Order: sequence, then C-alpha cells, then structure tokens
Amino acid sequence: MKFDTPAGANPIDQLKVVGQPLDRIDGPLKTTGTAPYAYERHDVAPNQAYGHVVGAGIARGRVTAMDIAAARAAAGVIAIVTTLDTPRLAKAKRNAAPLFGGAEIQHYHQAIAVVVAESFEQARAAAQLIRVSYAREPGRFDLAAAAGSAPLVGGDSEEGSGAPPEDRRGDFEGAFGAAPVRLDQTYTTPDESHAMMEPHASIAAWEGDRLTVWTSSQMIAWGKADLATTLGLPPEKVRLVSPYIGGGFGGKLFLRADAVLAALGARAAGRPVKVALTRPLVANNTTHRPATIQRIRIGAGRDGRITAIAHESTSGNLKDGKPETAVQQSKLLYAGANRLTAMRLAELDLPEGNAMRAPGEAPGLMALEIAMDEMAEKLGLDPVRFRILNDTQVDPEHPERPFSHRQLVECLSRGAERFGWSGRNPKPGERRDGRWLVGMGMAAGFRNNLLTKSAARVRLDREGIVTVETDMTDIGTGSYTIIAQTAAEMMGLPIDKVRVRLGDSDFPVSAGSGGQWGANNSTAGVYAACVKLREAVAQRLGFNSADAAFAEGMVRAGNRSAPLGQAAGEAGLVAEDGIEYGDLAKRYQQSTFAGHFVEVAVDAATGETRVRRMLAVCAAGRILNPKSARSQVIGAMTMGVGAALMEDLVVDKRLGFFVNHDLAGYEVPVHADIPHQEVIFLDEVDPVSSPMKAKGVGELGLCGVGAAIANAVYNATGIRVRDYPITLDKLL
Ligand code: MOS
Repeated sequence: MKFDTPAGANPIDQLKVVGQPLDRIDGPLKTTGTAPYAYERHDVAPNQAYGHVVGAGIARGRVTAMDIAAARAAAGVIAIVTTLDTPRLAKAKRNAAPLFGGAEIQHYHQAIAVVVAESFEQARAAAQLIRVSYAREPGRFDLAAAAGSAPLVGGDSEEGSGAPPEDRRGDFEGAFGAAPVRLDQTYTTPDESHAMMEPHASIAAWEGDRLTVWTSSQMIAWGKADLATTLGLPPEKVRLVSPYIGGGFGGKLFLRADAVLAALGARAAGRPVKVALTRPLVANNTTHRPATIQRIRIGAGRDGRITAIAHESTSGNLKDGKPETAVQQSKLLYAGANRLTAMRLAELDLPEGNAMRAPGEAPGLMALEIAMDEMAEKLGLDPVRFRILNDTQVDPEHPERPFSHRQLVECLSRGAERFGWSGRNPKPGERRDGRWLVGMGMAAGFRNNLLTKSAARVRLDREGIVTVETDMTDIGTGSYTIIAQTAAEMMGLPIDKVRVRLGDSDFPVSAGSGGQWGANNSTAGVYAACVKLREAVAQRLGFNSADAAFAEGMVRAGNRSAPLGQAAGEAGLVAEDGIEYGDLAKRYQQSTFAGHFVEVAVDAATGETRVRRMLAVCAAGRILNPKSARSQVIGAMTMGVGAALMEDLVVDKRLGFFVNHDLAGYEVPVHADIPHQEVIFLDEVDPVSSPMKAKGVGELGLCGVGAAIANAVYNATGIRVRDYPITLDKLL
C-alpha cells in the first residue's frame, strides 16, 4: 500500500482496541522467565557448544603471533578460530570496520579469537591460556586534542538522522555580530554505553551451507544482509531469528562479533555454537554513543526573538565511521532567519561510535537546551516564555515546508502549569530545604519522526484466529502488543484472538526497531496487510468489500452476516502487504515534541544531586497504547537522568579503551535514584504520518531531559555546568 495522501477515516479510528492502555501480551512470558533470550535457546539446535570471544589487548597495531597450544590442549576444548588463520572478513555495509580476521587491530577489544568448548567455563578458561604478541602502534584517543583539525563531515546515517556537513541560511555571522544579546558557549557530552541488560548473544547452526543464527537484533533485515556480506554467503542462505530482546538502545541495530564468531566457531566445531559477549566486550567491542564537543551561538533582539543561531558539533570515530548528528534539532526547533549548523569528525582509534537511543537529538539537546536557558537569563525572560516566543510552525530552513503537526507550545505551557513552574524562583541558589538547595529546570524535547517501509503477513484460520508474521522486533518496547491491537481493530476481534510472531527473517521485512520509527511504521504495515485480508474475506464470503463491517468476530454487509472464521475455509486465508511512503514525507516536516520539567535538590555540603520530580508532556501523534507508551517515556526519562548525572565511558587516553567497561564501573540510574515521574500525552492524531496517525515516542522521552536537569541544578546552585555528566566534583 502506497501512502501518499493524508489518511482519511479508517477502521483504526474506532479505537476499540488501539489506543487502549492494554497490558503487554508478552508480559506473562517476560515476568515468568519463559520468554527466552538468544543465549537461552537450548531447544533450537542439539548439541550446542560454547564459544568465548577474546578481544585484542591493544587499540592499534598488529597481532604478530598467537600461541594457542595450551588452550587447544585444555579440557573440553573443541575448536579455536583465530584472527591470524582467518583472512580479513568483508566489511559489512553498516559496520565501520570488519568484525574479524587478519593481523591488523583497529580498536581495543577487536575480536581476535573464539574458543569453542563443551562448557562456558571451559571455553573461558582456555581462552585465558592464549598468548598473544602484538606490535603496538600509537593511536589517537583524545577527542579534545583531535578536534581542532577535524574536517567537516556529513551524517548520512541509514539510521535516519542525516545532516549535511554544513548548512547555512541567511547571514549568520552578520546577524550574530549585530545582535544586542549574544551567547557563545561550548558544551561537552561524554562517550556513553547502551548498557542494555541482555548482552549481545548468538547461537549459530549450519546445515550444509545454510546458516541459522538465533540472536539479539533490533533490525533483522540489516543483520541478515550484513552477516551474509561478512561471511561471503548469498543472503538466502542466512536466517536470523530474534523474537525476544533484553534491550538494545541502538547497540543491537548492527551486526556484531557475537553472530560472526558463533558462525565461524560452529563451522570449525562442526556443531552449533553459542556466544555471548562479556560486559567488557559490550563496551569496547561493540558500538557506543560518541562524545561530543558542541559550540552554540545564539543572537537575539531585546524582545527575545532569535535572529541568529549556530550549532557546531565535533565528534570522533573510526576511519569509516560517521559523526554524531548532534545539530539535528537545531535545524528545526526554533525560528530565526540566520542559521548555521555544522559537524566535524575527528578520526580516532577508539571503538566504533554509532547510534544510541535518539542519536543526534539526545546529546544535541543536552547542549542546545542549556544554551537556551542561559540565553533566557541574559534576556531576563522566563525560559518557558523564551521558547514559546521562538516557536515556528514551519521548517525554519525551508519555510515552504510546514510541520505536519507541532504542539511544542502546548507541551510547554501545559507542563508549566502542571508542574507549578510559576512557583520557581528565577534567582538561582536561593531556595533551601534544610541542607538541600532546591531548583527547577525545564527543556524542550524534540525528535524526528522517521518513515520507513514495513511489511507483514496475516493469516486467518477457521476458528477466527488471526496470526500476524513480520520480522519486526520487540526490544522491550511493546511491539507484540501494539501489533496485536492493530490487527484486532482491523479485523473486528478482541485482542486475545490475535497471535503475533516477530523477529524472524523468514517473515516479511518490517521497519525494525530503531530511531523510534518502529511503532508507527510496523503497525502501518500490519494495517496494510489487514486491508488486504479484509478484501479477501469479503470476496470469499461473496460480500461487497466496500460495505463489509468487521466487528465482534463477525463480518456484516447489508443484511447478511457471517463469522469471520467462516471465510478461512479449511486451508486458511493469507494476505501479505506493506506500507510504503510517497513524497508526503518531503512535503511536511514530521517531528515529535515534548516539554520536560524537573526539580532537583543538591546537597549544599557534598554536591550530591537528587532528582525530586519529573514531568514530560509529549505530543507524538496518536498514542497506540498509553500504558506501553508511558513505560517507554519513563524509561527514557530515567536514561536522561543517567546522561545528566552519571553516565560516562571513561577513555584511557594512553591505551585507548573504555576503562569502566562493566555495570559496576559504568553507572546508570537505579530505582532509588528515580523519583516521581509523570507523563502526559497531548491529544493528537497526525494523518500525515501513516494510516495509524501515530508517531514515535520512545526516544522523545529522553530528548531534553539531560538539559532540564542541568538547568534545574543551575537554578538550585547558581553553578552552570556545561560538561556532562554533572558529577558532584563539578559543583564544589
Ligand atoms: Mo535507536 S539508537 O535507533 O535503537
């Protein structure tokens, strides 16, 4: 189904099932531990052996020798595959560097061997017996040192947050120079780890030249294509299966060493092999959110209107890696005739930087929204008022393009009212609660809504059960549930008459889970398949499909009616279709908006920051399931607390690796860190987004939170920290 005109009324609008705050249909499986993750699939292939991956102990140079004799002789060892006896594998499209093979080392903990043994413990013990000799070369590990000479580079990421190297509108320098009120500040964000609960893990099994990998992947079709490229296999010989995922946050968008080395290990061992990356390998072998240095300049008239705005971001990456698109939101969030955005990329020899939840906007807003707070203060304006004053209903770089729907002003004003913003003391450092300094802060939230094609297959059986199959994934987000809700609404069924099967490359290719595009696009694909199934049902029953109404398990047309299952016949009825987008997406800018409000208390003696209250008001199209959407947003807000106050992958600048490469050293918020969180969704349907009239929401909840906390810390203490995370040493 081609979607190229705004959606009219359709069966989803009934909202009998869609839009209801239903429990997750996979909830009982999750809470009883019966939704198996990749590493736990003991059932899928007999005689599984265990692979343990060895990572390089240098960041740059060559492996000169590997002594595997002791490991080979160790108890239980079946096979060892080393990088020296494997030719360098092809670099897949979405990897910055090849994942295995050859002597060259491009980053610390690059995989150099997999040891396969009868048990996990035997594989790990044997791996520790491998002696590796290296020729170490000096590397570049310091972003700040490399930033000065970093060239302009665009971000044409397939993940969707693309931007040209430099973009200019009007005369930024002239307007900035002439502005009566000006800000010129630099903000820094650190490297961050996805720190998902389930590490990257895969089980690989060969049947002749056919490879099946049970893995943990957000994007089945990307993983299948890239695994085929890496191993030099025709794609049709590769099957990927990933029905349950214990978190991804972007870390599982791309093929990583677990799948590749499980496949190589299984080939060498002649039996299925399972591999899970250890925590240090998750940090240093896979991807991370790269650190940024962001310079922001804003010029405004004394009336508070922005006349000039510039956002320049520098990040680092491996040679074939991409820049963090941290300027993304600054192209679209506020009005202003004279504009500049630019990205610079420094070549570093650290592990690959890539997408982590809301890549671009999440770190970009951590800078921009402090700058807006600072600018409001210079202007003597309330920060909410300053943002509202600079709202725009069109893309400021392309004024002929309106936003499909933009309720930022409503998010901010509704949030201010709900949060009691008028009670904030605009003078910092004045509100005390015993030993605590108390402050409030806010920020705008923004994340683009990306459209990408998505397909599904739906099958009706005689009992009136509908089964949906699509390679869509559920990374803990609720995909199973909203897909079931969509099919139930379309076919006139209660949700318990719908079965959903996800995460298998044998199913039609979906949008996958990334960039908060999963919910809207994957359900739109299911919608398209269900439109076809409805037509097939009507035809089977001899009903006019234009008149056929689907409700309560029955199909009615005129004065005739039949149970839905009757149309299935003995063999069942199958329909397959997908959603594809025309140029509607080019005619409208599609984005999601939020207002984030935070209250913090900072210990006047120790500098410890405690978050006391958080509120997010979100405008993100139709909310398909308010319960799972709220869970997404509060999880994202929690991630925002981590980004503001704790998370920091610390670079060892001599040896070139992330030092705190485990969950003891890499701090993320725990329950005790998180206070009352409230989420409000504005009433919104966006007929331009898809027939579902929905948009993404899972990343929006993170975008802006970090800056709202930083601004609250400033309001509490009078100390402006521009270098994340805001740890207590920066407040003393
Ligand atoms: Mo998201 S970073 O696109 O999984």
